[in-house]
Amino acid sequence: MKTYFDIAGDGGSQIVDQVVDIQEKIRHKLSRVKHRLAIASGKGGVGKSTLAMQLAAALRQRGKTVTLLDADLNGPSLAHMAGLQESLFIPGPAGLHVPKTKDGIGVLSLGSMVSEDQAIDFESVAPSESFTWRATREFTTFRDLLAGTDWGTLDYLVIDLPPGAHKCYEFAQFLGSETAFVLVTLPSDVSQGVVRRSVSALKKLKNPLLGYVENMSGYYCADCGKVKPLFPQNTRMNFDIPLLASLPFDPRLATLCDQGQPLAYLFDSPAAQAIHALAENIEKRMEAQP
Ligand SMILES: Nc1ncnc2c1ncn2[C@@H]1O[C@H](COP(=O)(O)OP(=O)(O)O)[C@@H](O)[C@H]1O
Ligand SMILES: [Mg+2]
Repeated sequence: MKTYFDIAGDGGSQIVDQVVDIQEKIRHKLSRVKHRLAIASGKGGVGKSTLAMQLAAALRQRGKTVTLLDADLNGPSLAHMAGLQESLFIPGPAGLHVPKTKDGIGVLSLGSMVSEDQAIDFESVAPSESFTWRATREFTTFRDLLAGTDWGTLDYLVIDLPPGAHKCYEFAQFLGSETAFVLVTLPSDVSQGVVRRSVSALKKLKNPLLGYVENMSGYYCADCGKVKPLFPQNTRMNFDIPLLASLPFDPRLATLCDQGQPLAYLFDSPAAQAIHALAENIEKRMEAQP
């Protein structure tokens, strides 16, 4: 039996050439994408996907071409939020066509491919189904999606990241330093604690960290038109990065996400206003990037 020590060079696999080849393919496929923006947090359930979807809709309304890439391969939710659960990924000469909402927002999400009653599994060749191996398979799948899709000419590719503080760092490295980041947190100490870790991880890299969004900053009561406190008053929020927007919890927004209606931002409410402010703020900051 051979051991690693017996393998000379790459053992004939030409692995380095393969990696260089696929990286070049990704670079070429994304060459007509003006801005890459990752929506991240570290924490789960804080509204990353909701904000990614609504931000894309607001940017679209501002005349931008936008595609959403659902990088949460194990728990994809953008297909549902965009009403594109049954869309087909049709291959074309330059790669997979990205399904679009009726408003023209591209959405590439594994949720369009795998129905919600099926688990998404990354088959392992390792006997013990090791976690590390699965993570590797996950990244390989993500890399293949990037390299195999026809992204076309875009103003924004908005990438919705999975939870996990380490994911911010891993994806930032993988996507390259030109991908900007926006972090999402709830006002709770628990959420802020996780997001603070993500901030410190991202600060080790060169990726622009545009700022953070405070989601569920209060509860919007449609009957009385007032925003009520949702968490006890909290003043810490000192992430040392700009606050881009504060968005209250709005039950109508949750319902519209469930119904797959991406234009939830159209209704007049503090949440809608916050999303528009966020889009405007992000556009300004992205345009200011070198
Ligand atoms: N501001 C908000 N108002 C109402 N519902 C929200 C808001 N933010 C998130 N939600 C809801 O909370 C749930 C979790 O949000 P989601 O975007 O899936 O979180 P994450 O992607 O961070 O895991 C979803 O059902 C979503 O509709
Ligand atoms: Mg999500």
